[in-house]
Parts: sequence; C-alpha cells; structure tokens
Amino acid sequence: MSLRRSLAAVALATSLAAPAIAQDDTRLEALLARMTLDEKIGQLNLAAFSPLFERGDLEKGRIGAVLAVTKPGEIVDLQNAARRSRYGVPVLVGLDVVHGLRTIFPIGMAEAGSFDPELAKATARAAGREAAAIGINWTFAPMADLARDPRWGRMIEGFGEDPFLGRLFTRARVEGFHEAGLATSLKHFAGYGSALGGRDYDAGAIAPGDLYDSYLPPFRAGIQAGSESVMSAFLSLNGLPVSANPAMLTGILRQQWSYDGFVVSDWNSVGELLEHGVAADSAEATRKAILAGIDMDMYSGLYATHLAAEVEAGRVPEARVTEAARRVLRAKLRMGLFERPDPDTSRTDPAPPSPEARELARRAAQDSSVLLRNDGILPLPHGRRIAVIGELGASQRNLVGPHAAMVQFGDGAAILDGLRRSGQATVSYAQGCDVLCESDAGFAAAIQAAREADVVVAVLGESNEMSGEAASRARLTLPGRQGELLERLVETGKPVVLVILAGRPIELGPVVDRLGAVLMAWFPGTEGGNAIADLLLGDADPSAKLPVSWPRTIGQIPLTYDQAPTGRPHDPKNHYTLRYVDEEITPLFPFGFGKTYTQFALSETEVPQRRLTPADTLEIRATLRNTGSRPGREVVQLYVRQLHASRSRPARQLKAFEKVALAPGGASRLSLRVPVAELGFHLDDGSYVVEPGRYQVFVGTASDASLAGEFEVSR
Ligand code: BGC
Repeated sequence: MSLRRSLAAVALATSLAAPAIAQDDTRLEALLARMTLDEKIGQLNLAAFSPLFERGDLEKGRIGAVLAVTKPGEIVDLQNAARRSRYGVPVLVGLDVVHGLRTIFPIGMAEAGSFDPELAKATARAAGREAAAIGINWTFAPMADLARDPRWGRMIEGFGEDPFLGRLFTRARVEGFHEAGLATSLKHFAGYGSALGGRDYDAGAIAPGDLYDSYLPPFRAGIQAGSESVMSAFLSLNGLPVSANPAMLTGILRQQWSYDGFVVSDWNSVGELLEHGVAADSAEATRKAILAGIDMDMYSGLYATHLAAEVEAGRVPEARVTEAARRVLRAKLRMGLFERPDPDTSRTDPAPPSPEARELARRAAQDSSVLLRNDGILPLPHGRRIAVIGELGASQRNLVGPHAAMVQFGDGAAILDGLRRSGQATVSYAQGCDVLCESDAGFAAAIQAAREADVVVAVLGESNEMSGEAASRARLTLPGRQGELLERLVETGKPVVLVILAGRPIELGPVVDRLGAVLMAWFPGTEGGNAIADLLLGDADPSAKLPVSWPRTIGQIPLTYDQAPTGRPHDPKNHYTLRYVDEEITPLFPFGFGKTYTQFALSETEVPQRRLTPADTLEIRATLRNTGSRPGREVVQLYVRQLHASRSRPARQLKAFEKVALAPGGASRLSLRVPVAELGFHLDDGSYVVEPGRYQVFVGTASDASLAGEFEVSR
C-alpha cells in the first residue's frame, strides 16, 4: 500500500471509529456517575479466589477482574454473577497466555530469533483464539522486558536483548492477541529484567537515558498498538519499588505518553511494598500504590480492605479512585466486553490443537531454531543410523518450556518420535543421563549406542523448570554432568550434532569446536519434536538468528552487542585496553548470528544519499545472493553508530532488517530504510534528540556486520 493510500485508510478508520468512541465515553461517564465509592473500588480488585474473595463478591460488585479461572462453565457462572451486580459490569478474566494456551508455540525469545514479527503475530492470534474460546478475555502478555542477563530465567518470555526487535515483537503480539479478542497487559513495567545478578525479584539499577533508550521503547510500542493495560514490575528500580513509583507509573505513562489504559500491579506487588521497606503498614502500601498510579490490585486484596477508609480519611482523593475505575471500565467498553457472548460450556477443557494450529506451531519452531555451527554434517542425508542421546531427546514435556498455560503433554511428540516418524533414518535411543545428570551410570550404554550409529544427535540442556519465573541460574553450563557426557560422545569419533533445549544461552566450553553441528532449539513447543526432525533431516531449512549475545562464559555478563564505546577499545597488541586476562572479550556467537544450509553473499552495498536532515530517511542498498546449492532465507541487518554526540552512543544499534528467501543462484537488490528521526536518543529527563553529526552504517547478517559507509546528519 502506498503511503498516501495507507494514510487515507487510517483517516477513514478514524472517522468511522470516532462516533463509537464518543458513545462509549458517554456510557462510561453515565456509569461512573452512578457508582458508589465501593463499586468503583470493586472495579480495581483483581481477585484470585482465596480466603480474600468469595464468589458472592461478584454480585456485590466487589470484583472487577479474576485470574486463573479456566473452565468455561465456571467462567460463565462468574460472568452471570457479575451481570447480577447493580450495573451488570462484566469481569475481565485474565490468564498468562504467553506462548500458547493448549497448542504451545516456541517461547517468545525463540520467536524473536525468527526476525519475523508476522509469525509472532500469527502465533499470538492462534493462542488468543484458543483462550477466547474458553472465556478468557485478557492475557498477561506480552512481556516487553529486555533480556540482558541470561542468568535471569524470565528472559524466555520476552524478545531478547535488543530494543528494536523488542518493539516490533511486542507490537506484533499485542496485535495478534487483539485480533483474537483478548485484551493485553504489557509487563513488567519497567526494567524488571535488570535484576542484579539475574536474580528474579532482586533490585535493579538503570541510568535514566538507558531506561528511555533501551527498556521503555518496547512498552511504548505496545501502548501505541493499543494495549489495554500495563503491569507494574515487582522490582525496586534505582532505589524505589516500581509499584510505588509515581515518576514511572504516572510521570512516564500518563504525562509523557498520555496513556489511557489501566495499570495492574503484579501478583501481590502492592502487599510487597512492606517487604520493600517503603510502607509501614498495609494501609500505607495501598495509599502509595494508588497514588503512584496502580489502578488495579492483583491478588493482595489491600485495595478492597483499605482504599475506602483511605479516601474517607482524606489521604487518597476520591477523584483518583474514580480515574482508576474509569480506566478499567473504558478498557471493558472498548473491548466490547458488555456485549460479548459467553463461551461454549459443552467442553470442559480447551479443544485439542487444530491441524492449522499444529502447522503454525511446526513452522514457528522451524523458523525459531538457530543453527549455530555446522561443519557440513547437517542436513543429515536420509537413510543414516542416528543415535539420539539424552533424556530431553525423548521428552515431550520439556519441549514446551515454562508458562505453558494449559498444555497437555500427550499433544506433542519428542524429537526422537519426530525422527522415527520421518521414516528417513534408523533411530536408536539411549538416555545417558536425566536432565539433572548426577550420575554417569548410563554413560556406557550411550557411548555404545553412539558407536553403533553413523551420527549422534545429543539433545542436552535444561528442563522446563530451569527457566521462567523464579528460575534464575548461577551457572550457565549444561546441568550436572551433561557436559561430561557430551565430551565422552565426542571422544567416540562419531560426528556429534548437539541440539540444545534451554531458555538461555548455554556455556559450551572448548568442546564446541569438536562438535559437528549445534542447533539451538530453545523451547520449541508442541510441534518441536517434528520441527527439529525436519531441520536435522533437511525437510526444513534453518533461518533464525540469535536474539541475544551468546557469552563464552558467565563472567562476561552483562554482554550485549550495543554496549557503549570505551576510551580503550580492545586491541590485541596493547595490554592496557578492554580485555579479560583469562577469556576473550567477544561473545561466542554474536547477537543476530545464525547459519543456514546454503551460503549467502552481500555485495554492491551503497549509501545513495550521504547528507541527511532529521526529516529524511536513510537508505542503504545492497544485493543479496544465494551462492549455495539449496534454497534458504537470510536476514540482512542494518546497524548504525553515531560517531560523535553530546554523550557516548552505543557502538552499534540495530535499526532495520529484512528477511529474504532466495533459490540457489537467486539474487535480490534490497533497500533498507531508516527514518533519521529513529537515530536519536533520550536525555535524562526523557526528552528525545536527534543530534547532527557523522554516523556509520553497518550491513551484514549478524551484529558483527561490516562497515557499509558513512553519512552526515545536519539540522
Ligand atoms: C508474574 C506475572 C504474572 C502473574 C499472574 C506473577 O508472579 O510475575 O508475570 O502475570 O504472576 O500469573
């Protein structure tokens, strides 16, 4: 669509939507005007049914939202009870639908590696449809937090280390869920992934400029895509728990971004203000949370207990409560909740994965697995004897990863099953050891199986429980004695293909150089077993890239590709420059890296216009050729660095990319474009500047892309 036409379409959509918004506003204000203080507070309670709330509270209008109720019959009962309340306001029914409901798709971070936001939109839509079918109308997703520390187990839920990728994928996920009728909640606002030492729930520290430049843009993109809510983070950031921080919850969200959705706390994060040491009692925690900007209280019940008294004592203005209720009701009206039909109650569980969902899940897993190394062993020629080693190779359960909503393990197939079902190989299996791998008792049988095969597929890594919430790791190595097992397999002299299942990069050590191939499968989901078999056997081609930098060792963390330059960049000939005395300074695999089964070459790179103003668009042209003998897809990536500015700018930042499919011998002339307005940065007060000066542009197929040229921005 041309720009002119797309603008016309937006104008048309806006004019059609305007009367509906006005109608909703009138209805909203009429409703609010009739509500008592208690009824308004009722809208602010997100209840888990525990001693804190009972179902009878719905009819009394004391509950605005519920979570973790998943039986359609129960959901209809809850909605009917809410309809019997004075104004019949329906409830939001929330669940963590993060990367699937019953059909589980690859974890979010893996999908980010596809560099294909449309794919992430499609999987969110499919997950959302399964959820909507049972009556869920609100997902606690997407997670817009950057993942910059692989010790932090929750990195799996987000979209990797890069703010640009984070923006695109957060937006795509919000849109996908919306198309399925689910409201979204961008979490965890903000900086949750900065927890010190990667320890989930610990405090974090982020410099203001970095907060605006790196951590906030994915949230802003999700808000621009219309997310109905934002969830506040658990952590204390720069000395103040975010759930009590007015500068973040009101200053940034409301004053700077004019956000009109609602802010929900994380689970009991209002109650946790006591532990954080910023509230002497739960009444003060309530007061601080609502005054900071938390509209809805998840789980703690403190708004239900204290808010009315706080208002009556004059410590919380009633107008603040009214505004919070307005935001919640506005979301309910906008999403059409009052008119929404009930789910079909003839089923008690979500339906099994449909053929379409399975096909999408298989494609998503193929497109999210990253080929990190290949000495030519992959794809495996058909008819080989393959020894699959490792408990994870035979596990369906550990393909789905954490936060797998309503997964049913019988729905999937293990990698071993996928290889066997292909009918293209003779497949044997030996466990070697289980995931924790505390004993070497099974090593001998595994080595024997390896010796009898043509090739070993070692499926090693983490179980579901080793990442996700509250699953930080202090080591990044393969758990237990798995590393030893891998060494022993390599020593047989048989080619070893390592397939890694894990929620984070794994420290591989020197053995990596002796492996025939390494395929990072993350947690690939319900269809992961089939998809990995497809990739190993060449029935699908790998095309994913790393959404995070892959460290050589844990001591290198934090390690991201967009770090600030130093006064002493690494120089192997000069000791007094950036270095470790006992390790290389570079990652093992850089952000954006991933191999294919063919070869690509980039050439004829040009920067046609080298003098630009902030109103212009930077364009880079390059030709991509498939010089190999198989079809494949490559992600051409464009990075920019501003050479001189009023503060140090990152050594490079991803600003554009294009994923291109080419047949052998095929070529494509690409034009990558970046509005110069995207090249600026934030000052500490949140203001955004694009400074004139010299910039470098790098084009390649990973973040170590080579210099393509320079350009100058003037006012
Ligand atoms: C998590 C949130 C989640 C919530 C509800 C919390 O522990 O931090 O991400 O949405 O629980 O399940």
